[in-house]
Amino acid sequence: MNHPEMQGLALNAPVYVKNAKLIAWVADMAALCKPDAIVWCDGSDAEYQRLCQKLVDAGTFQKLNPVTRPNSFLALSDPSDVARVEDRTFICSAEKEEAGPTNNWIAPAEMRATLQPLFDGCMKGRTMYVVPFSMGPLGSPIAHIGIELSDSAYVAVNMKLMTRMGRAVYDVLGADGEFVPCVHTVGAPLSAGEKDVKWPCNKTKYIVHYPETREIWSYGSGYGGNALLGKKCFALRIASNMGREEGWLAEHMLILGVTTPKGKKYHVAAAFPSACGKTNFSMLVPPAGFDGWKVTTIGDDIAWIKPSADGQLRAINPEAGYFGVAPGTNMLTNPNCMLSVRSDTIFTNVALTDDGDVWWEGMEQDAPGKALPKHLIDWQGKDWSPEIARATGAKAAHPNSRFTVAATNNPALDSAWDDPKGVPIDAFIFGGRRSTTVPLVSEARSWVEGVYMAATMGSETTAAIVGQVGVVRRDPFAMLPFIGYNMSDYFQHWLNIGEQLAAKGAKLPKIYTANWFRKGADGKFVWPGYGENMRVLKWMIERIEGTAKGQDHTTGVSPGYTDLTWDGLDFSAEQFNAVISTDKAALLKELELHTELFTQLAHHLPRVLVETKAAIEKQLAA
Ligand code: GTP
Ligand code: SPV
Ligand code: MN
Repeated sequence: MNHPEMQGLALNAPVYVKNAKLIAWVADMAALCKPDAIVWCDGSDAEYQRLCQKLVDAGTFQKLNPVTRPNSFLALSDPSDVARVEDRTFICSAEKEEAGPTNNWIAPAEMRATLQPLFDGCMKGRTMYVVPFSMGPLGSPIAHIGIELSDSAYVAVNMKLMTRMGRAVYDVLGADGEFVPCVHTVGAPLSAGEKDVKWPCNKTKYIVHYPETREIWSYGSGYGGNALLGKKCFALRIASNMGREEGWLAEHMLILGVTTPKGKKYHVAAAFPSACGKTNFSMLVPPAGFDGWKVTTIGDDIAWIKPSADGQLRAINPEAGYFGVAPGTNMLTNPNCMLSVRSDTIFTNVALTDDGDVWWEGMEQDAPGKALPKHLIDWQGKDWSPEIARATGAKAAHPNSRFTVAATNNPALDSAWDDPKGVPIDAFIFGGRRSTTVPLVSEARSWVEGVYMAATMGSETTAAIVGQVGVVRRDPFAMLPFIGYNMSDYFQHWLNIGEQLAAKGAKLPKIYTANWFRKGADGKFVWPGYGENMRVLKWMIERIEGTAKGQDHTTGVSPGYTDLTWDGLDFSAEQFNAVISTDKAALLKELELHTELFTQLAHHLPRVLVETKAAIEKQLAA
């Protein structure tokens, strides 16, 4: 096939690519972006090694010490391209109302007119990689296929670890299968003879979604969710639209399996905002005193959840790898994660040790008296030492530095992680990062109360997004940046799912809220967190089994001190009170923030949520 505007550039589609629509689209995009070459990725290990070597040659990757960190690489990004850019993310639905008040919206025609000149020639001097991927087990009825066109080899190798990427996708796609077209460019064309930089990107950034036509266009960033389009753009923003139309849920949730000492297995899906503990919780190692309890990982970031014919909610992890936060991770906080990244890992924006290994803040905290490294190259390529850090506050690793690793590297991987049927969900947890007000754990007394708690959840912002860190904002369902349509309609969708399950006579999953992040007067976390979160998880499971006690309060049911297991942990009733108590004045202030949110979301806001709020206010006034 030859496109009139491809000017001699060979499309070179492999013979096994039979989808005419795909071939025509690639030709169109090549004509627009004008790359020097097109490479159709097959997902093979040989291709992965070849592209990694190419990235090493370009200076984007440094190969790490093959003895201490086999088959692993470090990439240091441009200092301006380190996290998701929410203010540059757009939901371009036909109508503004469809995107709702929490999304940036520009009319599709206007956005297309803006992007057209930006994409015209954007890949000059570069290779366009055609990256075929499946979100979810290949060929599963719940999986969906995407094709990402990207001028970044870094994106191609990350997609290999993060998704089921490669040639087999074309067999599933066949001659006329559907795919979500995803176009990505770093927005840095090279003129003839121009030397490339290590991390090309553009100051101008656009992360654009067209929900009606299910397209993704990303311009100007090479980092994480901005560039790995299967993740937030497809698996959350586009998929939430699919789920709304087709009656399922696309959520910012980890999925874990928890097995009790009696051998009974439960599955929990938990939504925490970005950099608020999903990866950690999904790989939890029960502390001493919890003999016989076992936690296994199905997913660490995204869940697709579908009601089955018999009224169960079944969840799959659409991803096949982890793009997780490095700082704070060590052998105490998350040993399974440390074991996962021992080899075959891409690190981005962590520090480099003098012997060619990686380091990040918190790595020294897993053994008493462990020393900081004497010298490092920091994430900006500068010298770092404990002295420099003390004098300037310089971080060795960027706070949003991450590792990319295939799920199969995780020693705690659940045997059903790849099961096309998914796993049945017994409970949902919604958690935020709140230094005050919100209790360690609370159980909703009904589906509606749970939806209310999730909808009104607040959290302190983190380094996962470009912008100010530590500001409390409403982050409904931990989905504020990820819902691809009107937030109030999304609340209604959750309420509808609950009603449909109840109508089938199904036992609805319990809904909990959690907050690992309450701080004391000294500014330190009171709750020890990490593996100790098992104490809370155990209480949740025993509530499902009907054996654990709890105490009613204004917004749910929480455990008393003696309702949790304290074996192996020195944690006083007073300390417990500091993380579980809800104070009336604080709650009243919190409700003002709920009012603010509901005012913003007034269009289509489900009435039952307004009534739930009124009932809470009435209780507080009594
Ligand atoms: P995204 O990948 O951005 O969606 O984030 P995530 O929710 O998977 O976050 P992750 O588990 O990677 O945790 C991010 C940060 O939270 C790390 O610095 C952790 O050390 C810290 N963290 C995780 N769990 C806990 C906990 O139980 N207590 C405390 N205090 N910190 C935690
Ligand atoms: C998040 O920000 O929630 C992430 C990281 O999981 S990214 O892939 O960059 O979106
Ligand atoms: Mn995330």
